[in-house]
Amino acid sequence: MLENKTVYLNGSYLPLPDAKISVLDRGFLFGDGIYEVIPSYYGHLFHLDDHLERLENSLAAIRLANPHSRSEWRQIFTPLLDASQNQYVYLQLTRGVAPKRDHAFPEAIAPTVFAMVSAIVPFAGKHTGIQAVTMDDSRWKLCHAKAITLLANILHRQSAIDQDAAEAILIKDNIVTEGAASNVFVVLDGCLLTPPKGNDILPGITRDVILDLARKNNIQCAEQRISAEQLSLASEVWVTSSTREIIPVVTLDGKPVGAGKPGAVWLEMDAIFQNYKQSLL
Ligand SMILES: Cc1ncc(COP(=O)(O)O)c(C=O)c1O
Repeated sequence: MLENKTVYLNGSYLPLPDAKISVLDRGFLFGDGIYEVIPSYYGHLFHLDDHLERLENSLAAIRLANPHSRSEWRQIFTPLLDASQNQYVYLQLTRGVAPKRDHAFPEAIAPTVFAMVSAIVPFAGKHTGIQAVTMDDSRWKLCHAKAITLLANILHRQSAIDQDAAEAILIKDNIVTEGAASNVFVVLDGCLLTPPKGNDILPGITRDVILDLARKNNIQCAEQRISAEQLSLASEVWVTSSTREIIPVVTLDGKPVGAGKPGAVWLEMDAIFQNYKQSLL
C-alpha cells in the first residue's frame, strides 16, 4: 500500500497513489533524467541555493533546460514541507514523454517534474559506526551529474550489503573516488582529506559544508587524491550524505579503522555540524 501523502507532479499537487506517468517517459525507458535530494530541517530547506546550483549543473550536463527559476523551485517545494519534522525533498526531472522510443532527443517535449517529501529517519549506525568494503568503481565518466541512471551504484551498494557492510567505497585506478551513495573523508596523519571535485565524484553538498566548517574551526583539511593504500592506513574514515550526514566507518574490508570506533575528529566535526544545522533554524 502506498503512503497517501501529497506529491508534486507536472504542476499539480496530488496524493501519491494518483501520481502516474506514461510508460513512454524517457526516465522509465532510458534513465534519461537527473534528481536532487534536499534536506529540510523543521521546514527550513538546507543550503537550497547550493542544491539548486547542483541541479542546474546536472541539467546542463545532460542538456536539459531548467523549467523553473530558483524562486519557483522554492515555491514548488514549500507546500510539501512539514515544519514539525526533519524531511528531505526528492526532486526528479526527466526529458519527458516522447511519442516513440528513440535514443535521440525528441523535439519540443516538456520535461517530467516530480517532487515528494519523506521523513529523515536518523541513521541507526551513526554513533557506533558502520562497516564498509572497497570495490572497483564500475561507473561512468559523468559521476558529477546527479543522474537517475544509478544501476552501477545500486549494484555496488547491494554488493556491500551482501558482505554485511553498509556502504561500498569505490576505487578507480587505485584512487578513492566516493561511496556508492556518499562522499568519503579520511583522517591521515591528523589531516582531514577528501578527494577533489571532478567527473569521478558527485560534488556533495554535505562534503562542501564539512570542508567549510573544518576551515572555520581550525581543523586541518585538504582536498587531495587518496590512494587505496592511504585509505587502508587512515585513522578515521567517514562517509557523508544529505540524509545520513557524517557516518564513521569503523571496519573497512573486515579490518578495524584506527581504534575500531568513531574517532576524535569525527566526534568534533559531528558536534560542529549539528550546531551549524541548529544555527540555521
Ligand atoms: C554517489 C553520491 N556521492 C555523494 C553523495 C553525497 O551528496 P550530498 O551530500 O549532496 O547528499 C551522494 C548522495 O546521495 C551520492 O549518491
